[in-house]
Formats: sequence, C-alpha cells, structure tokens
Amino acid sequence: MSVGILGTGTMGAGIVQVAATAGHEVIACDPSPEALEKARAYVRRGLESFEKKGVVEDTGAAFERVRWTEKMDDFGEGNVEAVIEAVPEKLALKKEILSEIDGILPSDALILTNTSSISITELAAATKRPEKFCGTHFFTPPPLHEGVEIPRGLLTSDETGERVEALIKSFGKTPLVVRKAVPGFVANRFLMPLILEACRLLEEGVGSEAEIDAIMKKGLGFPVGPFEMTDMIGLDVALDVIEYVHKELGESFYTPPRILKEYVRAGKLGRKSGEGFYSY
Ligand SMILES: NC(=O)c1ccc[n+]([C@@H]2O[C@H](COP(=O)([O-])OP(=O)(O)OC[C@H]3O[C@@H](n4cnc5c(N)ncnc54)[C@H](O)[C@@H]3O)[C@@H](O)[C@H]2O)c1
Repeated sequence: MSVGILGTGTMGAGIVQVAATAGHEVIACDPSPEALEKARAYVRRGLESFEKKGVVEDTGAAFERVRWTEKMDDFGEGNVEAVIEAVPEKLALKKEILSEIDGILPSDALILTNTSSISITELAAATKRPEKFCGTHFFTPPPLHEGVEIPRGLLTSDETGERVEALIKSFGKTPLVVRKAVPGFVANRFLMPLILEACRLLEEGVGSEAEIDAIMKKGLGFPVGPFEMTDMIGLDVALDVIEYVHKELGESFYTPPRILKEYVRAGKLGRKSGEGFYSY
C-alpha cells in the first residue's frame, strides 16, 4: 500500500521523507514544479544525513520509493491507503482540494489533513467520507519530531482512528490523540500565545528578537526561541493559524500582531524565503 502526500512545502517534504524512510511507497504531489524540485533536494539531503547517523540504511532505495508528480489524478492509480493533505492553511483552498481528492481516491482510502488549527469536522464535510477523515498534525521538521497530534473530527470513526494511529506508528512516530478538535488543537493553543507575546514585546521595544529569544532559551530553557521557531514554521503559516483561531474563538487575545502582518505582506516568511525575523 502506498501513501499520497499533497503539497510538498515545508511540511509535505518532511512527511515524504518520513514515509519513505519507514518503507512506504509514496506519491508526492504538488502543482508547482519548483516546490517539487525543492522537496526532492530536501528529501535527498535529509536521507543522506540520516544515513550518516545510521538511521537510514539505503538512501537510494528510500528515495526510489517516492514518485513525484504535479497531477493529483495520480493518487487514483497506485494502491493508495491514505492521502495526507499539506497545502497552505487556507480554509477555502483546503475544502476545494479535499473534495477533489475525495473524487479521485478509492472509497476505502483515508483522507488526512496536516492542518495546524482548522476544524477537522468542517474539512471532513468537504468530502463524502467524513468517517474516514482525520487530522495528522506533524511538527516541524517532521523527520526530527517523535509525536504527531491526531485531532479527530466529530464524525471520525473509531476504526479510522485506529487505522490512523497504526499508520503513524508505521512511520516510527508516536500518535498523540486529541479527542476534541478545538481550534489550534493542543500544541498551537500553547505555541501561538507564545508567538503573540513575543511579537507584542518586540513591538513595544522591550528587546530585539535575539534578546527575547535568549531569555526564553537561557532563562526558561526553551530549545529554540519564539522568533527562531516562527521563522522555522513560516510567518505566513503562523499568521494563518492566529487569524483562524482568532476568528473561531472571538477572543481579542488572538488579535494578529501588526508586525507579523507587515512582515508577511513584505514577503519576509522565515527560513523558506531567506528572511523573517532573522536573515538566512
Ligand atoms: N510550517 C509548519 O511549521 C507547520 C507545522 C504543522 C502543520 N503545518 C500545516 O501544514 C500545512 C502546510 O504548511 P507548510 O508550512 O508546509 O506550507 P508551505 O507554504 O511551505 O507549503 C505548501 C505547499 O502547498 C502547495 N500548494 C499550494 N496550492 C496547492 C494546491 N492547490 N494543490 C496542491 N498543493 C498546493 C505549495 O506549492 C507548497 O509547496 C498547513 O496546513 C500548515 O498549517 C505547518
């Protein structure tokens, strides 16, 4: 059985690497040839570095398990057990794409979403198989994190929950079930407030990015500072998540910081664009 991955950006590329390393046949799809090319290079580099560490035995074989394509229809060929959607965090786009995937996949296949915040129930409603729909929220970068949040929708069946957990375990990861998929699930309900406060402190002139990050790391013992973390996530992705949670909860605490909006408008998206709060 193979696994399909739609959207090979920051997260999709990492998930492709994880699935191929674990021995799955993978169909990696993105409509952008540049995104596919970047993802191929990312996966090759990632596999090589894991081979050096002794985690992957045969980089070539793992790489050969991935079929790269610009066409979603290719999910309909191959014996696809599940497709993981990892396109941008935009509700309308995800619903359109998920409905399309639903029309392509065999009826027994699972449709999974890597959304960071959006209602699984609402996304599932874009398909005709809400009982076979579930969240699989990987953390960035996917090859390095042990856990994957599994937010279930209201109609996700127990059988699907079990299949998803088995799939995540087959990736060598630990499934972390979220019984009720509230906006932002669990991880982002802690992480986004941290990013919000960091942006507010920066706007108030309390310290520079590096000074604030240093206090969080050397003082509180965080492995990375909030600005370094936001650069890894992508400022556009963080803003999309904050805007969605703000809209859904209606709490002014989640009002998107102006600095984040301005940086995104300026194309300063973090590591992926070469500049965010820091330059790369
Ligand atoms: N970045 C993170 O740290 C992080 C962590 C966990 C979850 N997520 C979630 O994962 C998803 C993807 O985020 P990302 O950071 O990888 O985004 P990204 O912008 O890096 O990548 C998105 C990819 O989707 C592709 N895409 C755009 N439109 C498409 C379409 N119509 N069909 C297929 N592919 C399309 C783009 O070409 C791009 O390669 C989002 O839902 C995000 O919230 C992100």
